[in-house]
Amino acid sequence: MKGLDPQARVAIVTGGAGALGAAIGQKLHLDGCHVVLADVDDGAAAARAAELTAGSDGPAVVAEHVDVGEPESVDALVSRVGAAFGRIDVVVNNAAIQRRGGIGDLDVEDWDVAHRVNLRGPMLLCRAAVAYWERQRSGSVVNIASRVWLSGGQPIYVAAKAGVVGLTRSLATELGPLGVTANAVAPSFVPTDFTRAGRDDAAWEEILEHHRGLSPLGRITEPEDIGDAVAFLASPRARAITGEVLHVCAGTQLAPR
Ligand SMILES: NC(=O)c1ccc[n+]([C@@H]2O[C@H](COP(=O)([O-])OP(=O)(O)OC[C@H]3O[C@@H](n4cnc5c(N)ncnc54)[C@H](O)[C@@H]3O)[C@@H](O)[C@H]2O)c1
Repeated sequence: MKGLDPQARVAIVTGGAGALGAAIGQKLHLDGCHVVLADVDDGAAAARAAELTAGSDGPAVVAEHVDVGEPESVDALVSRVGAAFGRIDVVVNNAAIQRRGGIGDLDVEDWDVAHRVNLRGPMLLCRAAVAYWERQRSGSVVNIASRVWLSGGQPIYVAAKAGVVGLTRSLATELGPLGVTANAVAPSFVPTDFTRAGRDDAAWEEILEHHRGLSPLGRITEPEDIGDAVAFLASPRARAITGEVLHVCAGTQLAPR
């Protein structure tokens, strides 16, 4: 790509078309990274990339297609990013899907579908990026978990997010000698189109009030709060932090549920 700053870090954000993914991409961009918003929803990712670059002559923001659960798709994404930018510094595994159902009526197919995206996805992308980190001797992984890994809840989603924490700790151990940090960010409720879906104004206000009540700070966590935490953990400022889970949820991890 012409005119790119070759010194700038290169960040891949999966689920980059979503509310959190876009906020993470924005903060990484403000921190000087070239940002790849990788998503299965090409139109939404392209629209997010256009929003982030509007009026900016800073680092690049591009949209790329990926299905994070598909090895060929992930490997192809990493090859395209490597060809365009020459390096991969930051991997943010943010793409995830929700599947509900208690253990008594759990649909096995739902389990496989969700784990393919939520747990296999982060593994595949890190696996594909290792070759870059071996060469560069530096890098950072930030996996988006959830506060539910502590509190429990919907078994499919919770098991995947607890798995993401386990994967993060394994990556920290294995990739540390390459100079690569690996950490997780655990949000709780964040108001997005996704969490709002199907709720009228009254129901929405009620849920916001409920989550404010769980927070010792009396506040709701916003997408940009997640973006700030990820940008910090992905930066050299966090060079001595690895294998951690940072709860970015206004203290709601202190509440029982
Ligand atoms: N919003 C919350 O309240 C909340 C709370 C805790 C944790 N999280 C976590 O934060 C992350 C982002 O959540 P969000 O609210 O922005 O969700 P979202 O649904 O808005 O975004 C998820 C994105 O992932 C993409 N995606 C889905 N399947 C994919 C696949 N196979 N390959 C590539 N991309 C795929 C979707 O197209 C979407 O753009 C997720 O990991 C979620 O589990 C969210």
